[in-house]
Amino acid sequence: MNPYSFDNIVTSISTSKKTPLRKAIVIISAFACTIAILASGTANATQKPASPDHLEDIRMEARGHAKALGGALKARLQQAIKRGGLEAGVAECKLVAEPIAQSLSNEGWTVGRTALKVRNPNNTADDWEQAQLAHFAEQLSQNLPGPLEAMHVDEQTGEVRYMKAIQTGQVCTACHGNNIAPDVYRTIKEAYPNDEATGFDVGSLRGAFSLTYLPPKPQAD
Ligand code: HEC
Repeated sequence: MNPYSFDNIVTSISTSKKTPLRKAIVIISAFACTIAILASGTANATQKPASPDHLEDIRMEARGHAKALGGALKARLQQAIKRGGLEAGVAECKLVAEPIAQSLSNEGWTVGRTALKVRNPNNTADDWEQAQLAHFAEQLSQNLPGPLEAMHVDEQTGEVRYMKAIQTGQVCTACHGNNIAPDVYRTIKEAYPNDEATGFDVGSLRGAFSLTYLPPKPQAD
């Protein structure tokens, strides 16, 4: 199994194996802008209240949505990178990330990505996200066991928040590492003048998927 497959990047903390960069880039850059994408066919969350009974269902749904969005973006990026290399991958991310996130945030769900250091300022973490990211980063740097995910329920509104960590794989360093090719870096800076998302080492926390589920208000009748 490819060590940089979506599942591994997102759900495991196993350290990354080296894969020849070129091959890995094609396979993995797919996740480059793994934004808030839910293939519309998979975004059919059942509207339900956030009672404890339903929390595990919601967690499973959140996991499924995070996985689905990775899959949807993968196809777009693979095509872009095959066609025009990493620079085309950057352009594709810029083009599709936010519109797809917006169009797929429905049925009570909002889906996105965030990080402590962001490329797109619209992905900036809020207080709760920052706290979870700091915890994930510590888990990874200290090699602590436990799932790299977090969930929180607001008792008053019933809002459920869910996050899942995203680790830096070898191929990610082509656009997020310490030694980005000058042409690629130039393309990144043109598209994202305030880019902070470089300098990541393999295995470190790159960011997280961040999802919110807000149950529908009960119908008054
Ligand atoms: C082809 C270059 C490229 C590669 C390779 C790449 N990324 Fe990115 N990444 C980007 C761009 C461009 C954005 C900004 C997308 C946007 O506008 O939201 C981004 C944004 C992100 C974000 C959202 C937070 C932020 O910084 O705005 C995460 C998380 C992320 N990348 C993780 C990864 C991971 C993990 C990998 C490796 C599997 C990876 N990226 C590989 C270009 C790349």
